[in-house]
Amino acid sequence: MAEQHSSKGIMWATIIVAIILIAIIYPLTVKQSKSAADAAGGNDSADVRIQPVARFELAKAAPAVAAGPKDGATVFNSVCGACHNTGAAGAPKVDDKAAWAPRIALGNDALYKSAVAGKGAMPPKGGAADLSDGEIKGAVDYMLAKVK
Ligand code: HEC
Repeated sequence: MAEQHSSKGIMWATIIVAIILIAIIYPLTVKQSKSAADAAGGNDSADVRIQPVARFELAKAAPAVAAGPKDGATVFNSVCGACHNTGAAGAPKVDDKAAWAPRIALGNDALYKSAVAGKGAMPPKGGAADLSDGEIKGAVDYMLAKVK
């Protein structure tokens, strides 16, 4: 009886020690992962150190995009192609010479005007209101060059 009792005591003591050990070790592992985060912080500071290069590249690239007008190909591929490559919304496709023949007969100025002001299912400037008239004109020229 007494032996059983003391073996139970040992069992409980073991459990308590295990709990205490876990209580001690767990925060240590948390701390360790924190110090891993510190190491990552070291990486961050490395990132910060190389960042000026990245910023420089961005600064170089951004105004080039913002300042210079987009050329016809860029505008066409980013805006107009959504409809004019696929025929979506009933748009005359770039490779559909028959669909373009009567439009080309209207003259370039009429086509520039339609593209800027919109026509039928085509919204003004193909929906890209931030584009300049010149950029739209460039896109029309690009498109017409493909049609011919
Ligand atoms: C939402 C789809 C859509 C987008 C985007 C779009 N178009 Fe169109 N486009 C059309 C449709 C539809 C027509 C035919 C309109 C009609 O004749 O009723 C058309 C017709 C045209 C025509 C012929 C106009 C005429 O007078 O017959 C030109 C030129 C043209 N688009 C240029 C452009 C350019 C340039 C862009 C990009 C800036 C563009 N489109 C973007 C749908 C689109």
